Amino acid sequence: MQNGTDKLFVDQPWLDPEAEPFVKIQSLTKTFGSFTAVSSVDLEIYEGELFSLLGGSGCGKSTLLRMLAGFDPPTSGNIFIDGVDMAGVPPYQRPVNMMFQSYALFPHMTVEQNVAYGLKQDRVPKDKIAERVDQMLSIVELSQFAKRKPHQLSGGQRQRVALARALVKNPKVLLLDEPLGALDKRLREQTQFELMNIQERLGITFIVVTHDQEEAMTLSSRIAVMDQGRFSQIGTPTDIYEYPETRFVANFIGSANMFEGRVKENGADYVIVQGVGSDVSFYIDHSTAVRENTAVWVALRPEKITVSASAPEDSADYNFVEGVVDDIGYLGNFSIYKIRLDNGRIIEITHPNQTRPKHGRHLVEWEDKVYLSWAPHSPVLLTK
Ligand SMILES: Nc1ncnc2c1ncn2[C@@H]1O[C@H](COP(=O)(O)OP(=O)(O)OP(=O)(O)O)[C@@H](O)[C@H]1O
Ligand SMILES: [Mg+2]
Repeated sequence: MQNGTDKLFVDQPWLDPEAEPFVKIQSLTKTFGSFTAVSSVDLEIYEGELFSLLGGSGCGKSTLLRMLAGFDPPTSGNIFIDGVDMAGVPPYQRPVNMMFQSYALFPHMTVEQNVAYGLKQDRVPKDKIAERVDQMLSIVELSQFAKRKPHQLSGGQRQRVALARALVKNPKVLLLDEPLGALDKRLREQTQFELMNIQERLGITFIVVTHDQEEAMTLSSRIAVMDQGRFSQIGTPTDIYEYPETRFVANFIGSANMFEGRVKENGADYVIVQGVGSDVSFYIDHSTAVRENTAVWVALRPEKITVSASAPEDSADYNFVEGVVDDIGYLGNFSIYKIRLDNGRIIEITHPNQTRPKHGRHLVEWEDKVYLSWAPHSPVLLTK
């Protein structure tokens, strides 16, 4: 048991009450005039994490990163890195390096000169520089391109040069602002895995800013979802997706059918929620502190709903609704079905195309009458 717990804490140090965070942010605020870009945030990041800041444009991600790097002084609050208060510490004396949103390489320099630049500035001896640059280029798999100029490289290769340049001085924390933003979708997915491998091999703490939720889900040990300068939720990708704590998070990460409702019955280990303005009622298999008759929301992910063309043998009181197929989207690996209820409400369902359908056929067809059901564990009860 002890070993099991130890292993759990190694993989998930944030669960260990005795672990010391490597980066600690306390009530950090940044205002520009009367506008608050980052609003009293607290955050603890552990050594070796690949931590993502995820949020829409303008929510304060870059501002937070710039304060960590030391480019912008906070309006109030504290940042500690490796136990040291960063107040007044200039960027070049912090154990961090930053890869910017647009990772401008020096166009007139070769790949190896670009990577060597920071070490040269620090007057590191020549042979040491050569050794270190070789090592970095090998890690990002660009050794054979050492003599090329940036314009002779692909987007993904340029991105890896920028990564090597940011890593060469061996920072304890690497801050990456939209590191894959310039890449097309396919290259982006491939590079995500490369980035994860490099991070794992070097064991450096990465803090990555992204507005791409799939990217954050793929890369991260944990994610902070940001909205208007605050954190809506901090958790592992599974926490954030399966156990969202707010409507904002449920809607921002993936998609969710959101139902307004009232708590009808609050049992010891279940809750019954009656949908408002629809016949849908939910039996949810966990308890809540919410009182009966309180207005709540229920989020239900599209892939957690089963669609069937035949009526169930017993009519169910809960977690069941009838409708008509309003629209079908075939995406190859899965299909989206939009089901219209009697009251006009649309429920979205996704279904994996595990077996090859007959030509032009779907699981169910337009205007078919269908029956939807889901498990008591699937709906998420939300109060804010
Ligand atoms: N120097 C500045 N002066 C005034 N307002 C600023 C300044 N820098 C940023 N802001 C504002 O602060 C907010 C947060 O900006 P920030 O650059 O942190 O957003 P972001 O989350 O990185 O967005 P994006 O995904 O578009 O890069 C924005 O509304 C922006 O206009
Ligand atoms: Mg930004």
